[in-house]
Amino acid sequence: MAIVGANGAGKSTLFDGVMGLVHTRGDIRLAGESIQGKGPTFAVGAGIGYASERFNLFPYMSVRDNLLTGAWTARKSIEENLLRVHTLFPRLAERESQEAATCSGGERQMISLGRALMSAPKLLLVDEPTIGLAPKICAEIAQSLQRMRDEMGLTVLIAEQNANFAIRLAERLLILESGHIRAGGQSEELAKDEGLVSAYFGKDAGGFEAKEGVKSPGAAWT
Ligand SMILES: Nc1ncnc2c1ncn2[C@@H]1O[C@H](COP(=O)(O)OP(=O)(O)O)[C@@H](O)[C@H]1O
Ligand SMILES: [Mg+2]
Repeated sequence: MAIVGANGAGKSTLFDGVMGLVHTRGDIRLAGESIQGKGPTFAVGAGIGYASERFNLFPYMSVRDNLLTGAWTARKSIEENLLRVHTLFPRLAERESQEAATCSGGERQMISLGRALMSAPKLLLVDEPTIGLAPKICAEIAQSLQRMRDEMGLTVLIAEQNANFAIRLAERLLILESGHIRAGGQSEELAKDEGLVSAYFGKDAGGFEAKEGVKSPGAAWT
């Protein structure tokens, strides 16, 4: 599922709220259980991984050590989880001992995603997976997100400004405007809404090349 919205719509605040990093009102439920007000340690323990747009990597620590910082709640299965991360991102295995500060933007995104996977979450929140990345790297990241869903059985929730990227990748979309839900539903259904299409999908904002097999509703307006 993708949360789509312009800069300032509230996507990151929504994710921070789910993780208990900011104060929230109302209720937040994970598989029917309230996690409202229980804080980030509880959220991670309950099975939510978070790859924040802020990354917050440790620049002078190695790629491997950065990944290990995500394993605090899953210390018994570090090797197993690390192997999964390396299978998904072979480049992180190749660069294991390199300092994070010397990694490219795409590699940092991979470290951020990999670190979130080190706690073996059931639900992964990924904030702006493609921001600032070249189209080829965006496609690589998109493929890894699909593998997390299809091969690892994860529920993946992404926040995206790039509506065209989001609609090709996600089965469901939620459109956020100034903190409010403007529309939500199956990607294919929303693709038929002319108002939304002209507001959000009118021009190709990203240049992401859909991988074979990726559903591409409304290819005419990409
Ligand atoms: N704790 C807060 N209290 C009030 N306003 C906030 C708080 N956190 C973020 N905002 C504001 O909410 C808006 C949404 O921010 P953000 O979630 O970062 O948007 P997005 O990730 O969609 O770009 C911004 O205008 C931001 O300044
Ligand atoms: Mg944001």
